[in-house]
Amino acid sequence: MPALVLLGAQWGDEGKGKATDLLGGSVDYVVRYQGGNNAGHTVVVGDQKYALHLLPSGILSPGCTPVIGNGVVVDPAVLLSELSGLNERGVDTSKLLLSGNAHLITPYHTTLDKVTERFLGKRKIGTTGRGIGPTYADKINRVGIRVQDIFDESILQQKVEAALDFKNQILAKLYNRRAIAADQVVEELLGYADKLRPFVCDTTLVLNNAIDEGKVVLFEGGQGTLLDVDHGTYPFVTSSNPTAGGACTGAGVGPTKISRVIGILKAYTTRVGAGPFPTELFDEDGEKLRTIGHERGVTTGRDRRCGWFDAVIARYATRVNGLTDFFLTKLDVLTGWEQIPVCVAYEIDGKRVEELPYSQTDFHHAKPVYEMLPGWSEDISKAKTFADLPKNAQAYVKALEEMSGAPISAIGVGPGRDETIEINSFL
Ligand code: GDP
Ligand code: IMO
Ligand code: MG
Repeated sequence: MPALVLLGAQWGDEGKGKATDLLGGSVDYVVRYQGGNNAGHTVVVGDQKYALHLLPSGILSPGCTPVIGNGVVVDPAVLLSELSGLNERGVDTSKLLLSGNAHLITPYHTTLDKVTERFLGKRKIGTTGRGIGPTYADKINRVGIRVQDIFDESILQQKVEAALDFKNQILAKLYNRRAIAADQVVEELLGYADKLRPFVCDTTLVLNNAIDEGKVVLFEGGQGTLLDVDHGTYPFVTSSNPTAGGACTGAGVGPTKISRVIGILKAYTTRVGAGPFPTELFDEDGEKLRTIGHERGVTTGRDRRCGWFDAVIARYATRVNGLTDFFLTKLDVLTGWEQIPVCVAYEIDGKRVEELPYSQTDFHHAKPVYEMLPGWSEDISKAKTFADLPKNAQAYVKALEEMSGAPISAIGVGPGRDETIEINSFL
C-alpha cells in the first residue's frame, strides 16, 4: 500500500522539508495534515533555497500534487503570499488542493496568540505567534471559521460575529486591547474567496481515490512528536497532532491505508521555544552545534536550543508513531568531535529510567545518562554509501539505530537533495 507518513521524531526542525523533497520526485501527492505556518521547512535544490511554511514541500516537484488537508490551520494571507513568492521563482503551484474543511487563521487569532503569550509572562510557551493555538481552540470549541465559509457571505458574517462577541470581551476587558470589528474581518476574508476557490475541493475523496488507484501519497508532518498536544511535553507543545495518527484525522484517510511511517531524526537534538530539554547544552559544545548546524528558526529567526542526541526520546517516537524507519539527518554536523555523548537513559531522583516518564514533574527532573561514542574528523559530506563513512561514523549510526528501535534507512550528510545516503528504499 503506497501511503507513507513522514514526521518529526523530536521537537521539530529535524529536516522534514529536505526528506519530503527527496521523495517528492517519486510520489503523486504530498499532504500537510496538521499545523500551519508555524512550520518552517527548508528545501535546498541546487543553488536554490526555499523556506516553506504552509505549503507541502512536494510543491517543488513538478509531478507531485500538493494537498493541504482538513487538519491544517490556514492563514489565507500567508498562503497567497507563499504561492506568489513561488510563482515569481518559476514554480508552478496550480495543482494545489485545499480542503474546504480546513480552519482559517484570522487576524483575531494572531492577535490573541500574541497577547496571551505576553499575559503569561515567565510562563509563556514561546509560540511562533502565528495564531495556531487560538485557531485550534476555536475549532474544538466549535466556533471556528472554515475555508468553505468564505464562499457564503451570510454564514461567514454570522460565524465571525459569534466568535468575536466573546473574544472582544476578552480583548477589551482582560487584555485592555481595542475590540476587533466583525465587518472588517468578514470583508478581508471575502476578499480571498475568488483567489482560493480554484484550489478548494473535497481532499479526503481525492486522496482515498488516489490510494485505491495505487498512487503514492506522502503525508508530511509539521513540528514533531514531542510537540504533539497529546504525546508531547505538554503544555510546552503545539496545538495539533504531528504524530502518525494525526495524518489519519488530518487528511481523512484510515489507518489501514498507511503502509510506512518514517521518523525524521536529527543526529543531535534541538528545540525552539520554552519547555524541558534534558540534553540541552549551555556550553561551547552547544554553541558549536548551533553554529555548524545553522540552528536558527526558519519561521521566527530565533536561535534554536541545542543538545546531544537523546535516545530515550527517539525510542518514544518509535513507540507512539509505530515508526517503520528513521531518516537520520545532519550527521555531517557532528564531524570534528573527539567523542560524542549520547543520552541512553535518564536519572530521575537517583533512579535510572529507560523510557520517557509520563509525569511532567519527573521529566522536568530528568538528568541525562550519557554514553561516550568515538567521533571522527573526516569530511563526510561527499559520502554516497554507508561504506563511504568513516568507521566511527558508521558505529555512531549503528548505535543510534540500536537504541532507537527502528532501522535507519537514510542518512543526511548535507542540506542538498543529493547529500543523502540511501540505505533502504522508502518506496
Ligand atoms: P524541518 O522543519 O524539519 O523541515 O527542518 P528545518 O528546515 O527547519 O531545519 C533543518 C535545517 O537543516 C535546514 O536548514 C536544512 O536545509 C538543513 N538540513 C537538512 N538535512 C541536513 C543534513 O543532513 N545536513 C545538514 N548540514 N543540513 C541539513
Ligand atoms: P517545523 O515544522 C520547531 C514550537 C514553538 C513553540 C511551540 C508552540 O519547522 O518543525 P505554536 O506557534 O505552534 O503554538 O508554538 O511549538 N514550534 C516549532 N518548533 N519547529 C516547528 O515547526 C515548530 N512549530 C511550532 O517554538 O515552542
Ligand atoms: Mg522547521
